[in-house]
Amino acid sequence: MTPSDVKATLSFSDGSPNMELPIYKGTIGPDVIDIRKLYGQTGKFTYDPGFLSTASCNSTITYIDGDKGELLYRGYPIEQLAVNCDYLETCYLLLYGELPNASQKQEFEHRVTNHTMVNEQMQFFLRGFRRDAHPMAVMTGLVGALSAFYHDSTDINNPEHRDIAAIRLIAKMPTLVAMAYKYTIGQPYIYPKNDLSYAGNFMRMMFATPCEEYKPNDVLVRAMDRIFTLHADHEQNASTSTVRLCGSSGTNPFAAIAAGVACLWGPAHGGANEAALNMLGDIQKNGGVEKIGEFIKQVKDKNSGVKLMGFGHRVYKNYDPRAKLMRETCHEVLDALGLHDDPLFKLAMSLEKIALEDEYFVARKLYPNVDFYSGIVQRAIGIPVPLFTAIFALARTVGWIAQLNEMIGDPEYKIGRPRQLFVGSAARTVKPLGER
Ligand code: SDX
Repeated sequence: MTPSDVKATLSFSDGSPNMELPIYKGTIGPDVIDIRKLYGQTGKFTYDPGFLSTASCNSTITYIDGDKGELLYRGYPIEQLAVNCDYLETCYLLLYGELPNASQKQEFEHRVTNHTMVNEQMQFFLRGFRRDAHPMAVMTGLVGALSAFYHDSTDINNPEHRDIAAIRLIAKMPTLVAMAYKYTIGQPYIYPKNDLSYAGNFMRMMFATPCEEYKPNDVLVRAMDRIFTLHADHEQNASTSTVRLCGSSGTNPFAAIAAGVACLWGPAHGGANEAALNMLGDIQKNGGVEKIGEFIKQVKDKNSGVKLMGFGHRVYKNYDPRAKLMRETCHEVLDALGLHDDPLFKLAMSLEKIALEDEYFVARKLYPNVDFYSGIVQRAIGIPVPLFTAIFALARTVGWIAQLNEMIGDPEYKIGRPRQLFVGSAARTVKPLGER
């Protein structure tokens, strides 16, 4: 952080003494006002529910420019990574700060591949769930359960332990997601195969059965790998902030990641891809393109509580660059499968066009986000809708771990402990039961 030669001066109309606050500049993006001494010097807190104007940390991992619709992982534009790299190269970049060379890539792939199996005991956790349990409920349980297997071998203050925990989590998430899926459809679990790519292994664990050889479709495997890359990290979003806050207590990293899985499940966050596809399905059922106008009217009516899922973003006030890349992937996959007339994809593009021309959305800078097209392409690949967010969690695990390790590796980090504006009852006396 570079101190700015500009200072912020806080003055109070009640005659309290002024206070100077230092301003820091980052490499790119907004400056920050350092308020760490504010409470100590003024007895006042800042107030920012939802953290609209709050930087919770400094980070070197991911940068978003919401106005330009830019996303950089360690400085590399997502558009370049999605085309020139695969997901494991992106994982290496997010974890270690640089893209791997050929031998580093091979060694990293070898390490991840050799940690893809999970302890056989994990099957007994699955058996505790109903077969129709939502995969995100199962994933929250399974990821948390991993902490029971590695509790003694994870000293988060030991960089080697942090590194092996990262490898284990990246390696095991596809296995766990596939197990969660197989459990819900009553099929046997498929073990990982070490001669397959990361995405190819996942597709085989998801769709193979013991009855015949599984032949992966290279276009679908590549699309799955790109979906992982597009979801890998995204600055201090709700689930990443959850992982940082949870991890700041010094808890087991598997437990902290389980907290991230739980937060991602929400429809305002990672659950939006499932909600967006269900929304498209409902519009399709109620008349399709002709009924879009009626649906948009509902969305604009505040009392309806209806939102255009897959649209809008706290940071992007322009097109989410991931949505553009996801739409391209949609085209590729649907063409490869001969589904270019997929009604839901055509409906989504009509809905996007209408929304982008509608004053309500334009005024509020509401554009498609990563979740708007991801459901359509996952559905085309054969992923069941309830599994979409579990795949988002699979892909985001590397981002959560990289952000957690960056925090733990910062000697200045402290346990996160926000304060509040108390608006409840001041002290009062308990009356005996007979007098209440
Ligand atoms: C992800 O943070 C991240 O980076 C998240 C993520 C990541 O990679 O980690 O990018 C992944 O979570 C993407 C977002 C997925 N969620 C959705 O698609 C759900 C639908 N979107 C909304 O719920 C909403 O846009 C949020 C939650 C994403 C953002 O909400 P904000 O920033 O709190 O904005 P807001 O709710 O204050 O909305 C501002 C205005 C409001 O109208 P007014 O009160 O000003 O009249 O826009 C309206 C909102 O009602 N609005 C929408 C809308 N989103 C916002 N109206 C209709 N449909 C929408 N989708």
